[in-house]
Amino acid sequence: MESLAAIVLAAGKGTRMNSKIPKVMHKIAGKPMLMHVIDNAFLCNAKKIVTVTSPSMQKVRDQVGERYHDMIENVVQQEQLGTGDAVKSAISYLDGFNGIVVILYGDTPLVRPETIGVMTSFMTSNPFISLITLGMEVNSPNEYGRIVLDKKGDIVRIVETRDANSEEKNITLCNSGVMAVRSEVLFELIGKIKNDNSKSEYYLTDLVKIATDEGLRCSVVTADARELIGVNSRIELANAENKVQIRLRTNAIESGVTMLKPSSVYMSHDTKPGQDVVTHPNVVFGEGVEIGDNVEIKAFSEISGSKIAEGAVIGPFARIRPGCEIEENAHVGNFVELKKTKLGKGSKANHLTYLGDCEIGEKANIGAGTITCNYDGFNKFKTEIGNGAFIGSNSSLVAPLKIGDGAIIAAGSTITKDVSQDALAFARSKQDEKADWAKNFREKQTKE
Ligand code: UD1
Ligand code: MG
Repeated sequence: MESLAAIVLAAGKGTRMNSKIPKVMHKIAGKPMLMHVIDNAFLCNAKKIVTVTSPSMQKVRDQVGERYHDMIENVVQQEQLGTGDAVKSAISYLDGFNGIVVILYGDTPLVRPETIGVMTSFMTSNPFISLITLGMEVNSPNEYGRIVLDKKGDIVRIVETRDANSEEKNITLCNSGVMAVRSEVLFELIGKIKNDNSKSEYYLTDLVKIATDEGLRCSVVTADARELIGVNSRIELANAENKVQIRLRTNAIESGVTMLKPSSVYMSHDTKPGQDVVTHPNVVFGEGVEIGDNVEIKAFSEISGSKIAEGAVIGPFARIRPGCEIEENAHVGNFVELKKTKLGKGSKANHLTYLGDCEIGEKANIGAGTITCNYDGFNKFKTEIGNGAFIGSNSSLVAPLKIGDGAIIAAGSTITKDVSQDALAFARSKQDEKADWAKNFREKQTKE
């Protein structure tokens, strides 16, 4: 395989999104579109990746830098003069590179590395081809550039909708934006793109005609349009999200997850479910969730940034916030919220509870309505609960606090001091009783 470099275009204004956030930073399955594209370039084994952003996108460059460090070159395209100009601004960063350059658009996030692989292997096995575009058949192409073929079926040029004549507008073979070009051809021809079109922009797509005019062979590889959708508006973003969700759920189901109502489960790009996991309807996975085998997640639960070990049962109506570890066979029941909490093996918090900054041992029972008071308005404090401890219902545990192994907390207690191993702690007022008081009260009220 020839060596590969990728240029990722992300400098466009994204006006049609109506957003203060740059278009390519809008998320799909919890990850910005741009990161989807860069991650896929890595999966294709690109030796060099250059990302093109605009001067106002410093935050984007910072985020790219944070995530990929010096594995990526960040290039600033001074003025957004079109995709051709964007590629031109990246060229000097590929100085000395010899191989295939793949150009990817930051707003076309669903393209799979396998599809890019098809393009590059095609090029490798056909050394006479200088350029390959990735095309798709679209019934109503709207804004997509149309791929014009000659009688032999070779690609002649790509025409943008607004520059197309009525005959060209009827073409259904559309340009996805992905292009693979031999480096020497790209370096030589990129400067020849002109902006003599309706938008006065330098279109990268013009490279095809420039190449064919020079007698070079260009070709088109096609893939499913569902994979190649470009995102230019919120509607298209929602559409892309929907497609990624279907892809993620399909992968999960195929790998051994049972989903009772797949269309209601929302997954993140990095959700890792184990085998024989069962998800009931309306389950939401935020980023960073790992789930062990045989876990059951009941309806209306949300989990993010946490690890759930084998055999645990979650929900219905559970909320597991980042930083939690639910160990083997533990139970988290309805209306229970957990944050930065470790729930030990076989422990249960089944009803109406908040556990934050908490470490709970094995086989402990956390009664209904238990609240860890972990925050004083300024700082967070930790609660530790030992193995086999029993926290009675409606208890407030004021952190910092340690409750020993096997201790019992009486229901309705507000616990502010550490509790020793195997002790019983009460912290509530004593019950008083006045004989016949209720009966006398009723009689008096009735007379009056
Ligand atoms: C582009 C293609 C079109 C194709 C469609 C597929 C061109 C001229 N047209 O149109 O044939 O069907 O994608 O989705 O290429 N960008 C820059 N700098 C610029 C302009 C754009 O970096 O000066 C980036 C954008 O951030 C975006 C990508 O290039 O990620 C494509 O730009 P966009 O304006 O979305 O092009 P389309 O109109 O979608
Ligand atoms: Mg676009």
